Amino acid sequence: MNKLLCCALVFLDISMKWTTQETFPPKYLHYDPETSRQLTCDKCPPGTYLKQHCTARRKTMCAPCPDMHYTDTWHTSDECLYCNLVCKELQYVKQECNRTQNLKCECEEGRYLEVEFCLKHRSCPPGAGVLQAESMQGPKPSTCI
Ligand SMILES: *[C@@H]1O[C@H](CO)[C@@H](O)[C@H](O)[C@H]1NC(C)=O
Repeated sequence: MNKLLCCALVFLDISMKWTTQETFPPKYLHYDPETSRQLTCDKCPPGTYLKQHCTARRKTMCAPCPDMHYTDTWHTSDECLYCNLVCKELQYVKQECNRTQNLKCECEEGRYLEVEFCLKHRSCPPGAGVLQAESMQGPKPSTCI
């Protein structure tokens, strides 16, 4: 194989690994005006927001999300997301919001979420069983046998 093509393929392979984020912590590219160079900065972890991009001399600065805000992924945002405050109708709070995750809600017992609404599990006709023993409580509609 042509030497140049070979090197190009190796380079391509390396950059593919790059973009698929095999590195940890995950990175992003940032143009540093001070040095006029493209720098490779660490992203910010869940529970924080990006305070300052990295420079040639120091790492990315991330700060904890303020109260009632969260981030749940590695990211490069300078703002946290605002927590949902309430659940939908017929839902209860499964997990309160904290810095690393939004409020989590679940339908009341005997109901499951269909797009936006908590619907009642249909009851099976007499003589027919429910496919899964727990499905009357589960998050999916019950299946009658
Ligand atoms: C938020 O709550 C989840 C679930 O209880 C927990 O795993 C996580 O550590 C909490 N994060 C913080 C920052 O307290």
